[in-house]
Amino acid sequence: MKAVRIHEFGGPEVLRVEDQPRPDPAPGEVLVRVEAASVNPVDYKMRNGGYIPERALPVTLGRDVAGAIEAVAGETSGFKAGDAVYAMLARDRGGYVEYVAVKAADCARKPERLDFIQAAAVPLAALTAWQGLFDHGRLAAGQRVLIHGASGGVGHFAVQFAKARGATVFATCSQEDVAFVRGLGADEVIDYHAERFEDRAHDIDLVYDLVAGETQDRSWTVLKDGGVMVSTLKEPDKAKAEAKRARGVHYMAQPNGGQLAEIARLIDDGKVTPVIAAVFTLADAAKAERKLENEHVRGKIVLEVARG
Ligand SMILES: NC(=O)c1ccc[n+]([C@@H]2O[C@H](COP(=O)([O-])OP(=O)(O)OC[C@H]3O[C@@H](n4cnc5c(N)ncnc54)[C@H](OP(=O)(O)O)[C@@H]3O)[C@@H](O)[C@H]2O)c1
Repeated sequence: MKAVRIHEFGGPEVLRVEDQPRPDPAPGEVLVRVEAASVNPVDYKMRNGGYIPERALPVTLGRDVAGAIEAVAGETSGFKAGDAVYAMLARDRGGYVEYVAVKAADCARKPERLDFIQAAAVPLAALTAWQGLFDHGRLAAGQRVLIHGASGGVGHFAVQFAKARGATVFATCSQEDVAFVRGLGADEVIDYHAERFEDRAHDIDLVYDLVAGETQDRSWTVLKDGGVMVSTLKEPDKAKAEAKRARGVHYMAQPNGGQLAEIARLIDDGKVTPVIAAVFTLADAAKAERKLENEHVRGKIVLEVARG
């Protein structure tokens, strides 16, 4: 089968399309015939030398897949061959492939409303938003949330989840995405190049930070006393959190089939829709990563895994 792997760290040119043996699922795993995979910042960060040591190379990149189950091994929570599923992969396997073995517990049935390309756009970004807002941020109906980076892969899910939960959503993005983010349901959309979010957002219960740097630092002023600052990128400053009697959380998203099933229900109910910025072939994974890393992207980039 085809797999896109790296043998060294570097730019997109280090991605190689190679022939690899098809994996055998271990007990409790399903073998997925991948129809589509998606690209996340973690893929190019890993390719650039982040997250894994050099001795771990070669590795297959990619953390999201959607496809049909080809085979199962042992007890797989009712999943059977032929089921259409989607999953966020654990860090020890890659999704830019034709077949991948996935723990059944990490899979959920693909939302019926979505095709495989749309479904592949969901798992890592949506689980990141879900876990950040609800597990770590404990966002509740009626609360006010400020989402920084609202037009990107994670942010566009976060806006929709927060609205579906009944929160009031303040969101920051570039001017060209203001209408898009408003269309996702945000109540107040702030163009971060032209305006200071501090002038529009206040008494925020939860700051959801997908940007870090000075954006995170400045966000303490809009947070309520006793609020929460959750970041995917940087541990919030402990002294500043203490001064506000706030909680600060930095976390790494984890695969979770149960949460993906809940997310599928929201998608099938029409409350959440993934947005696809571009689709590339598996062989063009390098172009896809180059685009995500260097260009302005609205929503998600997906790889269609065509078999010859
Ligand atoms: N810890 C984890 O488990 C985890 C999981 C997923 C993602 N992440 C990280 O979280 C970040 C977001 O992920 P993603 O997939 O959503 O990335 P993405 O699709 O590249 O989106 C990032 C967004 O941030 C916006 N942005 C940049 N600077 C901004 C600013 N100062 N204010 C407001 N928005 C700004 C960008 O918009 P413009 O192009 O308009 O600037 C872009 O839409 C990435 O760094 C990623 O590595 C971490």
